[in-house]
Amino acid sequence: MTEFDLDKLSPSKRYNLLISLVVPRPIAFVTSIDTQGIVNAAPFSFFNLMGNDPPIVALGVGKDETRRNGLKDTGYNIQQTGEFVINIVNEKIVNEVNTTSVDFPSDIDETEIAGLTKIPSTKIRPPRIAESVANLECRHVNTIEIRNTRIILGEIIYIHLKDEFIEFNENDFRILVELIRPIGRAHGRDFYTRTIDLFKVPRMSYKEWIDRR
Ligand SMILES: Cc1cc2nc3c(=O)[nH]c(=O)nc-3n(C[C@H](O)[C@H](O)[C@H](O)COP(=O)(O)O)c2cc1C
Repeated sequence: MTEFDLDKLSPSKRYNLLISLVVPRPIAFVTSIDTQGIVNAAPFSFFNLMGNDPPIVALGVGKDETRRNGLKDTGYNIQQTGEFVINIVNEKIVNEVNTTSVDFPSDIDETEIAGLTKIPSTKIRPPRIAESVANLECRHVNTIEIRNTRIILGEIIYIHLKDEFIEFNENDFRILVELIRPIGRAHGRDFYTRTIDLFKVPRMSYKEWIDRR
């Protein structure tokens, strides 16, 4: 066994170790605006759904001491305006999303550089991305700071999903995940992963487990 005492690892080695072991990670392509109305877009893979009642997402947005309040633009905008959109990413827009991760100055709207289309959201001010299969409108609820790690918690208040990715039957619906094909971030700085290699392992209740024995 190779052992790691995380306190003794340099930040870059620690980062490499962690992002190699905790994979795949979903990608939140976040659009937000600052108090002047300048739009910002950037991807974040320190991201997940933390619960569904209420529906809470968590984002780990790093610090940037060279910027406003020492925060990356996404973190600053959410701190100042309290609203953001998580745009779901699939392979069709991966290059555009990757472009927005360049550390452009704060007054640059990355959606324009990447050639993405902004359309209005329904309940919040930051726009959503038309090319995304789905957009999750979120309101900031809390930020937890643990030394240099900032965890932004948001509540999803409204969802847009393109019609071609949903099938209605009677009183229910099915999300066509096989068509959405969201991508995730894999190990290493430049790697992404597809979510199409699925396998099924049925989950059991305690009673089913007992009955099977
Ligand atoms: C796929 C991908 C995932 C990323 N995930 C994160 C992340 O979870 N946290 C983070 O701080 N930066 C992450 N980054 C880097 C940010 O996207 C990058 O720093 C960006 O410039 C931040 O933009 P902003 O200052 O406009 O908010 C990621 C980059 C890529 C390409």
